[in-house]
Amino acid sequence: MTIRKNILTIILAAGKGTRMRSAVPKVLHSLGGLPMLGHVLNAVEKIKSKQTVLVLSAETPAVEQYAKGHSLSPEIAYQHQQSGTGNAVLCTEPYLQNFTGPVLVLFGDTPLIRPETLERAIETFTSFLSSSPVAAMIVGMIPSDAKNYGRLILGETEDVIDIVEAKNASPEILTIPLCNSGMMILDGRHALSLLRAIERNPLGNEYYLTDVVRIARRQGHRIGLYRAENAVELEGINSRSELAWAEAQLQHRWRTAAMAQGVTLMDPESVYFSYDTQLSADVTVYPHVFFGPCVKIESGVDIMPFTHLEGTHIRTGSKIGPYARLRPGTIIGEDARVGNFVELKNTTFASRAKASHLSYVGDAEVGEGTNIGAGTITCNYDGYDKWRTRIGRDVLIGANSSLVAPLTIGDHAVIGAGTTVTKNVAEEALTIGRSKQVDIAHGGKFFHERKKARLSVKKKETS
Ligand code: UD1
Ligand code: MG
Repeated sequence: MTIRKNILTIILAAGKGTRMRSAVPKVLHSLGGLPMLGHVLNAVEKIKSKQTVLVLSAETPAVEQYAKGHSLSPEIAYQHQQSGTGNAVLCTEPYLQNFTGPVLVLFGDTPLIRPETLERAIETFTSFLSSSPVAAMIVGMIPSDAKNYGRLILGETEDVIDIVEAKNASPEILTIPLCNSGMMILDGRHALSLLRAIERNPLGNEYYLTDVVRIARRQGHRIGLYRAENAVELEGINSRSELAWAEAQLQHRWRTAAMAQGVTLMDPESVYFSYDTQLSADVTVYPHVFFGPCVKIESGVDIMPFTHLEGTHIRTGSKIGPYARLRPGTIIGEDARVGNFVELKNTTFASRAKASHLSYVGDAEVGEGTNIGAGTITCNYDGYDKWRTRIGRDVLIGANSSLVAPLTIGDHAVIGAGTTVTKNVAEEALTIGRSKQVDIAHGGKFFHERKKARLSVKKKETS
């Protein structure tokens, strides 16, 4: 049984995200093939809170649909008017009412957050409670660029005494490097009275969650500070440039982790991973390779340059590319070979099978040791339906063959080059289906002579 911590986690994701300038809600913009919100939910899932509540706008059903499909399956609370982060947390009132433990507040636009950091913040809050009780703990950070982050004002004992939003800050306050990461932990026993006391900020015309600091002090409580070691993972993403920045951070994180686990990346900066890429030790990845979602590669596999993979499992010892495209549903057996300009889709390619040049193999099964000649294609789609091609073991498919599905080719069969195969081929058969060759003796010589004669007449006329 999973042991859950007595923590209520609240994730805010109801904001309009206007700075993205997009019809897609901000938290559904992807990083490494996974929406920002998915990254946050994955991190939260690992800390095993008692309950997680996601605050959403009713106007973004796509976000709700996404969240419901996630394995964490958080409770949903609606914020009907996007009137600020303070109001957004108050929308979880029914969950806060009888809750007396720590309340962790996170933003859906902070996708780089790691579960280890959440754990450390929770531990610090717990030690605050036992030594010097606080009504809340703010997670502060010193980013390389303080941009529009709220600035933290500290008292003598490192207590937070105020958070000033950038748009309300004086030039002097804007020089403070310590910023509000947006993450905070409230003591559940005080949370509701603090949140209910937040008033609309006259300048921003919103209910600022950050106002809980001043309110708590007024009510005689202290507010603690946790200084995050790594500001990068707490940065909020509000625009397309920040999204690109976050993508670069994640790619760096994944490349470093892959190399630490024994993967060779010849030119790490040119290899792009997805959030779930799985590479075993002794995989070698050449420059300019893109891993879309759901790729798993076993040891001893070489992925040569300019290869694009998604939804593919490759077993040990195979060589892929350069310029290969492996699409979802592809399984490659041991010691197989997929060469340049070969596309595989929804295909099981058994061990030692080869397609070395210029082929499309879709909705197919290719048996052990079978060789697919250059330029072969499976004709799998009739404009309405997709059909399967089954090719047995140790089959030779001659170059430039068209395999019209549905089709079965038996073990050890040989298909002559240039054949259009429309009927099933029996085991061990030799199948040739191309128009008969016609040879005209000396016809080539006659052709050259006639062409050359015409050319010299033309030259004389123009000179
Ligand atoms: C907020 C903080 C700022 C902090 C920064 C860190 C406030 C007032 N400001 O600013 O101090 O430095 O984050 O990234 O808290 N949201 C709602 N409902 C709303 C408004 C926002 O759910 O009505 C959600 C958004 O979806 C987002 C999060 O709250 O996930 C933060 O909102 P955002 O507008 O990005 O706040 P910032 O301006 O970045
Ligand atoms: Mg933000």
